[in-house]
Amino acid sequence: MKNLENIESEATKDISAAQNMADLESSRVKHLGRKSKLSLFLRGLKKLAKDEKKTMGQLANDIRNRLELEIKKREIELKEKEISEKIDKERIDITRPGEKVEIGHLHPLTRVFRETKEIFGSLGFYIVDGPELETEYYNFDALNIPASHPSRELMDTFWLRQPSAISHQPSAKLLLRTHTSPMQIRFMEKHTPPFRIIVPGRVFRHEATDAGHEIQFHQLEGLMVSTDTSFTNLKGILEYFFKKFFSATGGKDIDVRFVPSYFPFTEPSVEVLIKWGDKRFEVAGAGMVHQNVFRAVGYTPWQWQGFAFGMGIDRLAMIKYRINDIRLFYGGDLRFLKQF
Ligand code: FA5
Repeated sequence: MKNLENIESEATKDISAAQNMADLESSRVKHLGRKSKLSLFLRGLKKLAKDEKKTMGQLANDIRNRLELEIKKREIELKEKEISEKIDKERIDITRPGEKVEIGHLHPLTRVFRETKEIFGSLGFYIVDGPELETEYYNFDALNIPASHPSRELMDTFWLRQPSAISHQPSAKLLLRTHTSPMQIRFMEKHTPPFRIIVPGRVFRHEATDAGHEIQFHQLEGLMVSTDTSFTNLKGILEYFFKKFFSATGGKDIDVRFVPSYFPFTEPSVEVLIKWGDKRFEVAGAGMVHQNVFRAVGYTPWQWQGFAFGMGIDRLAMIKYRINDIRLFYGGDLRFLKQF
């Protein structure tokens, strides 16, 4: 009897001391398992006299039942403890400051392109895309700039290493387009007037950089052709565009000036200047399409007339956002880009 009491009190102490489910399981094995003192005791009962066997057996079974109950009780306590510890650990502190979600910014040039496309779109111009890798024919020859012409010097060109298959065909030589004007030719070869298009895109020039010049920059070409498109149309459309484009920064009073200039593919030609601070900034070249350009695309000379322009998109962005160095657009400095 004494022995049984000891077994029970030792086991009860052990069970209530279990700190987790693993502890509890090893107490169960130790005190109720096949090799436990209690099991050995029960197995030894058969050696006892019948009466004794009955009372002692009853006693031992009661102990077993009580210990099983203890284990159940402790198991419930431990589970509750585990859950409340988990809740404590995983609690969301809603008073902590949130983590800032980084939102991207549109590059200022993307914004300017979107705005220009919208304005010209509202005037009925179609948007056309052209290749950045061009041939000498489209970039120069077809635009009335023959090989020996001095105006080729105006645009320092990045020439590509020529594949041997085309190196002996003069006009097929490959280059990075120096302006968006080659798309005039590509479009007119496939379409008959009347039409009006714009060509936004990246262009490349092999020249020294400074605050106003980059070796890669962006242009927006415009081309409108019909039987009676006039220089007045050109002037009206460009003036309307600049007023609209600069409307948030005093567009009504924007000072746009057209001064005589020279381009081989337009006649007459102008340069478009915008007053910025106390300086005039060249933002576009323009003019009436030269009849030799119409000849190059197979149109009957003098049947059509049209205007063309090529705007410097970077320059427009500089004026609009008051940026005094074009190189900032391409530096990838986030402190600059985050301002837009
Ligand atoms: C041309 O590229 C002509 N194709 C424009 C044209 C089209 C004239 C159709 C007539 C008819 P120009 O080289 O001037 O022209 O360049 C046009 C505009 O691009 C300039 O007014 C200027 O705003 C911008 N630009 C020229 N060079 C650079 C440069 N290195 N960096 C940034 N912008 C430039």
